[in-house]
Amino acid sequence: MNFYAFLLLIHSWNRWLAVLALFATTLLAWQGWLGNKPYTKRDTMLRGATVGLNHLQIIFGFVLYFQSPLVEYLRSDMQGGLQIPEVAFFGVVHISVMVIAALVLTVGGAVARRGATDAKKFRTVAIFFTIAIVLILLAMPSPVSPFAERPWMRLQF
Ligand code: HEM
Repeated sequence: MNFYAFLLLIHSWNRWLAVLALFATTLLAWQGWLGNKPYTKRDTMLRGATVGLNHLQIIFGFVLYFQSPLVEYLRSDMQGGLQIPEVAFFGVVHISVMVIAALVLTVGGAVARRGATDAKKFRTVAIFFTIAIVLILLAMPSPVSPFAERPWMRLQF
């Protein structure tokens, strides 16, 4: 397995950790906010793990970006590459939307940390992380994505 294949594999697997942590944290934040619950250590840990796993996914993504033959094609022929949906998606759309989602998570996490009350912390996480979920689900390749069809779980290259 070469470096590109390895990166594609870990980018595909870590996506599950990043997305599942995001779903769990967001669900608990909505429950906490609407149910007026106390913001516990568990919530702080989950919030940090979610932001961290998503940052890791972005780092893998950036390294992969400079190894991908699709992106290399775009760099060699920008005009022609943009005409090919998969090349335009991975070269421009996927990276842009995912970086915006990571920014939303980072800002949301930082604002929540400084929240004056437990309700404000939950509310910040619920709103910011829900926006991030929408962006990530829109730009995540999968068998049901209208933009880039890729496997749910890459088992081999
Ligand atoms: C939460 C953020 C992200 C998620 C959930 C995500 C998810 C995915 C998934 C599921 C794939 C398909 C993997 C496969 O074919 O098995 C993929 C491919 C890819 N991702 Fe991401 N990604 C994220 C962020 C990024 C970022 C920020 C970049 C670039 C800086 C990036 C660059 C790429 C590239 C270049 C490919 C395809 C490479 C190829 O097929 O040659 N990703 N991503």
